[in-house]
Amino acid sequence: MVELTRFGISLDKSLLRQFDEHIKKKHYTNRSKALADLIRKDLIKNEWQENKTVCGVITLVYNHHKRELVNRLMDIQHDYHDNILSTQHLHLDEDNCLEIIAIKGKAKNIKELFGRFESSKGVKYAVFTEATTGKEVV
Ligand code: NI
Repeated sequence: MVELTRFGISLDKSLLRQFDEHIKKKHYTNRSKALADLIRKDLIKNEWQENKTVCGVITLVYNHHKRELVNRLMDIQHDYHDNILSTQHLHLDEDNCLEIIAIKGKAKNIKELFGRFESSKGVKYAVFTEATTGKEVV
């Protein structure tokens, strides 16, 4: 069971008001959960900066008629097979593919892997979501 601790924070009144309005829009029902989530986000950001083992998702959109690109993206995935948990390929229409790649590994390797996808000629859109294995974050 998680042990809870209460503590006081001194904040600028208008900053707290802004925060309350912000979290209300996000449907938080109390400040504690919103604040804990902010702390977790910062700790997870730090996992990435300190080259810890992390998880994430890479999203790519590309034209499947560009066969060289399709082969290149496949080669990259084989080069980094240790870091790739799964790949989901969706045929968006006659021309475009959406690929969702779940990844896990040292942050440095993951960033390098993303860079190879992103810089591949013909990739229309590449975005990268940093996540966590959850092991070091309560
Ligand atoms: Ni496709």
